[in-house]
Amino acid sequence: MTSTVDVRTEEHAHRLDAADPLPTLRERFHVPPASGGAYPEVAYLAGNSLGLQPRSVAGLIEEELADWARLGVEGHVEATRPWKPYHELLRDAAARLVGAQPAETVVMNSLTVNLHLMLVSFYRPTPERYAILIEDSAFPSDSYAAQSQVRLHGFDPAQAVIRLRPRPGEACLRTEDVLDVLRTRGHTIATTMLGGVNYLTGELMDIPAITAAARDAGVIAGWDLAHAVGNVPLRLHEWGVDWAAWCHYKYVNSGPGAPAGCFVHERHLADRALPKLQGWWSTDPATRFRMLPELDPVDTADSWQLSNPPILAMAPVLASLRIFDEVGMDALRAKSLRLTGYLAELVEALCADLPVEVLTPPDPDRRGAQLSLRLLGPDADDVSARLRHEHGVIADARRPDVVRFAPAPLYCTHHDAWRAAHALAAVLRAG
Ligand SMILES: Cc1ncc(COP(=O)(O)O)c(C=O)c1O
Repeated sequence: MTSTVDVRTEEHAHRLDAADPLPTLRERFHVPPASGGAYPEVAYLAGNSLGLQPRSVAGLIEEELADWARLGVEGHVEATRPWKPYHELLRDAAARLVGAQPAETVVMNSLTVNLHLMLVSFYRPTPERYAILIEDSAFPSDSYAAQSQVRLHGFDPAQAVIRLRPRPGEACLRTEDVLDVLRTRGHTIATTMLGGVNYLTGELMDIPAITAAARDAGVIAGWDLAHAVGNVPLRLHEWGVDWAAWCHYKYVNSGPGAPAGCFVHERHLADRALPKLQGWWSTDPATRFRMLPELDPVDTADSWQLSNPPILAMAPVLASLRIFDEVGMDALRAKSLRLTGYLAELVEALCADLPVEVLTPPDPDRRGAQLSLRLLGPDADDVSARLRHEHGVIADARRPDVVRFAPAPLYCTHHDAWRAAHALAAVLRAG
């Protein structure tokens, strides 16, 4: 006798959670209370926008505040975790998260600042090779950064920013089309600045294949990994990526505006001819406090730093990276595949006759922990507000018609995915 399982039931969601090989770490995070719906806490599916606060963050910040109160300026060297080299505490764990060597990695600034610092070094246009390659649906900050950089060099963004568009009628890019652009137009492209996971569609790009094709075409392979870091396993060094930048406030849960990350491949580290913007944190720490007028170069990613590290903002990054080290990206990815797969299954089962379509690729290898849904009629802001206030489900709207659901595997459960899919169906059905 065979028994069939109804994936739509709440019991099934609970069963999946109970049987999951990676039990949730939800209790390690502050999950906001719900302002509507039947459950005390929200189902938080907006970790691709701002991750939840780890409970360990407050203690680490309080320690820094206590050291500041106790020591004043002496905290630079005498604090429990001395402030001068504080960024070094983050380096190894950040490097593990992106598959880099420690010397290739630095935590600093915010993401757009790091994109610019990377472009200063790696976008060196010539009359023949002058373009930056981005996705047409790149995050606006990336578009503005690319446009302002090409203008800075005297080029017109209309020609010098190449935007990759999906085929007519399709939402996502096809790898073969990206490779084709690199083959046919690569001789005009100076650097790529592509999203590893596209913020809007949730498409996971084939980073190794695109990086290899870029390099074959003499193009510098640069990546914005805002939506990829802490979401999918990365091997930047092994894949030969030239440069990358990312933020830590989405899947890495380090708080609003948290210091970002930067990767420069080892093969560039000793190239002292690379143009860079510099400040006192670019110089060798061994001689920094001799206060010399000339910079003493270091051949690591640290040489892209400008300023002394913002300790109170970096403490949450330390707390968050510890969690990733503890759990490991491979186990998280495995859970993420289970959660996102289950959410996709539920959306298909519950919303087939409703005005919504999934934009994110159905192939689990082509997506991370995100499903982007296009609403065919209803307003995205309105749907997301109703999800929150009527059902306690936090998703986010991208105007005019996209709602994104990200079951981040550190704190989301199958039951959260179940709540999200049922809430969406209820909101759309109510019209
Ligand atoms: C893909 C991408 N690039 C750039 C940014 C801008 O980040 P920041 O404000 O940290 O510069 C974001 C922010 O969400 C993003 O998602």
